Amino acid sequence: MKLASRMARIGESATLRVSRKAGELRRQGIEVADFSAGEPDFDTPLVGIDAAIEGLRTGFTRYTNSSGIPELREALAERYGALGAPWTAASVVVTVGAKAALMELALALFEEDQEVIIPAPYWVTFPEQIRMVGAEPVEIASSVEDGFRIHAEPILEALTPRTRAVLLNSPCNPTGGILEGADLERIVEACAERDVLVIADETYERFIYDGREHASAAALAARFPDTIILVGSFSKTYAMTGWRVGYLLGPAPVISAVSNIQSHATSNTTSFAMLGALAAMRGAESDVAEMLTEYAVRRELVGERLAAMPGVSCPPPSGSFYAFPRVAECYREGRQGSIEMAEFLLDEARVAVVPGVAFGNDDHIRISFACSRSELELGLDRMAAALAG
Ligand SMILES: Cc1ncc(COP(=O)(O)O)c(C=O)c1O
Repeated sequence: MKLASRMARIGESATLRVSRKAGELRRQGIEVADFSAGEPDFDTPLVGIDAAIEGLRTGFTRYTNSSGIPELREALAERYGALGAPWTAASVVVTVGAKAALMELALALFEEDQEVIIPAPYWVTFPEQIRMVGAEPVEIASSVEDGFRIHAEPILEALTPRTRAVLLNSPCNPTGGILEGADLERIVEACAERDVLVIADETYERFIYDGREHASAAALAARFPDTIILVGSFSKTYAMTGWRVGYLLGPAPVISAVSNIQSHATSNTTSFAMLGALAAMRGAESDVAEMLTEYAVRRELVGERLAAMPGVSCPPPSGSFYAFPRVAECYREGRQGSIEMAEFLLDEARVAVVPGVAFGNDDHIRISFACSRSELELGLDRMAAALAG
């Protein structure tokens, strides 16, 4: 079968591949501690579920405006307006998850031979989407030594006349690293001067620890309205991954282009899912607070256990719900590199992790702590035993 040549540029998401393999083992009755999934183990808050059911019962089952229902667009504009952003409901497109928002942005903005700067390690989908549309991802390394903080300097040094955008993700999947407000501001200023866009994927904005504050690009949007595009998601904050509701806010021409693409690609985000998302945004704050408290406990647990494993180094992640330990010291014959290490852990310890190479760093593995404390205890015990053996 002859496929489009762009297919040669991309592969299956490594995160999904490990989850699938873990699922196969489970179906054979084997108990696997699954640290691979990038999704909350919590149920969606009831207010969201009730609102969606009510929508279904009352006939809210038709196509909507392709950019999303007005109430949700307004609520989002208001939310970011509170941070000083100049955005109105017309500046918002509700999308089929943040993933679709990013894909539509890539289609709308990037061309062959243009460069898009991404801090590395990066979420697996970023470089694939950039390549899919013919542009080139330019990786800027961050390092385990300072908790994978994303610094302005190396990003500014990488700007060239071919740079179309800088794609930031703070807190970061997979490292948990964050971008401080001052670094964000320097990046945005430099990009604005050069007519380069800044796309801020703030999917993990609420997952931030030790009293740190998330520096949202929304706070700079009034000063740099033509530079900043913000992407967000209901998936992680509200445990709504399967609902597929995300969004983006930005300059009018970008919004209009993305809206056009969406009108031909998906028509609209599922009508009643948007009702659920809106209700969650308005009424699930106490559920979110409870979930965040639990994530913070799990983060401590994972941090302590990993720190006690010889050869494993992992500063506690500043944000997100992932730890990204360096495990290269544990590489041996048969478990050389992160892919073999992930296979070793699945085969020997029945623990599913994602190889770091999928995120651009072969010395690490990714451990998601979006799973119960008992699963974490079980998997970390097994992992410690397997690595010691
Ligand atoms: C950094 C990042 N951005 C976007 C997404 C996509 O989220 P959504 O479920 O809204 O498509 C993910 C999901 O794992 C992610 O990690």
